[in-house]
Amino acid sequence: MSIHITLTVISLLVTKCISEGTTPDQVHISFTGDMTEMAVVWNTFSEVSQDVTYGKTGSGATSTAKGSSEAWVFGGITRYRHKAIMTGLEYSTEYDYTIASRKFSFKTLSNDPQSYKVCVFGDLGYWHGNSTESIIKHGLAGDFDFIVHLGDIAYDLHTNNGQVGDSYLNVFEPLISKVPYMVIAGNHEDDYQNFTNYQKRFSVPDNGHNDNQFYSFDLGPVHWVGVSTETYGYYYEYGMDPVMTQYDWLKRDLTTANSNRAAHPWIFTFQHRPFYCSNVNSAECQSFENRLVRTGWLDMPGLEPLFLQTSVDFGFWGHEHSYERFYPVADRAYWNDPNAYINPKAPVYLISGSAGCHTPDALFTDKPWPWSAARNNDYGWSIVTVANRTHIRVEQISIDKNEQTVDDFWVIKDEGHMHSGEMRRANPGAKFPLQKCHFKDVACKRSLKEINEEL
Ligand SMILES: *[C@@H]1O[C@H](CO)[C@@H](O)[C@H](O)[C@H]1NC(C)=O
Ligand SMILES: *[C@@H]1O[C@H](CO)[C@@H](O)[C@H](O)[C@H]1NC(C)=O
Ligand SMILES: *[C@@H]1O[C@H](CO)[C@@H](O)[C@H](O)[C@H]1NC(C)=O
Ligand SMILES: [Fe+2]
Repeated sequence: MSIHITLTVISLLVTKCISEGTTPDQVHISFTGDMTEMAVVWNTFSEVSQDVTYGKTGSGATSTAKGSSEAWVFGGITRYRHKAIMTGLEYSTEYDYTIASRKFSFKTLSNDPQSYKVCVFGDLGYWHGNSTESIIKHGLAGDFDFIVHLGDIAYDLHTNNGQVGDSYLNVFEPLISKVPYMVIAGNHEDDYQNFTNYQKRFSVPDNGHNDNQFYSFDLGPVHWVGVSTETYGYYYEYGMDPVMTQYDWLKRDLTTANSNRAAHPWIFTFQHRPFYCSNVNSAECQSFENRLVRTGWLDMPGLEPLFLQTSVDFGFWGHEHSYERFYPVADRAYWNDPNAYINPKAPVYLISGSAGCHTPDALFTDKPWPWSAARNNDYGWSIVTVANRTHIRVEQISIDKNEQTVDDFWVIKDEGHMHSGEMRRANPGAKFPLQKCHFKDVACKRSLKEINEEL
């Protein structure tokens, strides 16, 4: 707690002192998709051209990565987004890098690492960021190799003219200038200006779309895919085209990944809104805007059929401010036998949305769905261990219980295991079609909810 308060105070001071200047702040790194590269993004409040000098630790700065600079205006504040890509990196090597006399370092992963750890969480605020101190401490101790933030970042990046986003990124700078920070947008990233704050503050692999909404990268045994549920969630604001653009890309990406299992046997997706959950407010998972993501609506195809057709192994979700693990489930058919996680017959999903939100305690229903395997609504975050080509482990760490592990499970599959052919042909939604009403239509929503509670 005291570290958190100290960090918060320091960051407020830092933000205040340099807010007019050319000092780089909010420095963070991320993968580009090419593991011999590292992207670095930073901010200044005045116009300046800055490059990144870098080199192996101990060898001095031997290379320069040209920095780009782009002004963007939000809430009357002009910020300069800077980005550079460090290239030609060697594997398993420590690098120092410098931006305008600020010094940072990171270590590259090994070539095609067969084993590594990932910090996974969603829904973490600047205020009330209960897991912040724990995540920073464990990251700096080398307990994970990169971070996946499942959307809802800072609450909100754009709040107070974007200054909450500035403060959040400064609090995390000691960690995310060192450990790659991979993000995906949540509903809170909609800043009513086309996700501008989300687009300008981050960099993701550019194989998806240049607005950071979706992308993929390969790392060792896993093909990682970031999916935007917000294209669905905000289709009434931004239209159906973003849904279709993503869907077409995703279908190609997953189909290719599915035929590339020899190199990367696992496909992991990460996205903000869940397909399933058993929270009290889960009107949520049964309500229009979430079922829309899973099953589709009108001309918009849902994501679950695609995940089944391409044998997606794992899906990580946020949005619900709790932790929930699911048995393999496909269109509400489930396998909850003791060996369900050995050669799973359907995707395994997990909600890790309890990192720290302003509206905590997403209460659970008395009776979980039969496909719900474990629930916990302490604050916390997850560590995903890719052990090798056949073994994946997930541990959930509780902040309320002094970093105790409150869930721990393995998913194991033989080389070449796929979900059944029947699963791959499944067409979710056919059994429970969405009503044809717009989700902003309250009366329709209410009737939909009544119907859903009977399902
Ligand atoms: C979470 O954070 C809030 C506000 O910072 C604090 O009041 C509360 O005690 C914290 N809860 C836990 C379990 O750490
Ligand atoms: C929002 O951003 C996307 C991607 O850059 C772009 O295609 C679209 O035209 C933008 N929409 C608006 C309303 O600015
Ligand atoms: C994969 O990891 C698991 C768990 O650590 C281990 O039991 C198993 O032997 C490993 N398999 C191989 C082929 O190394
Ligand atoms: Fe959310």
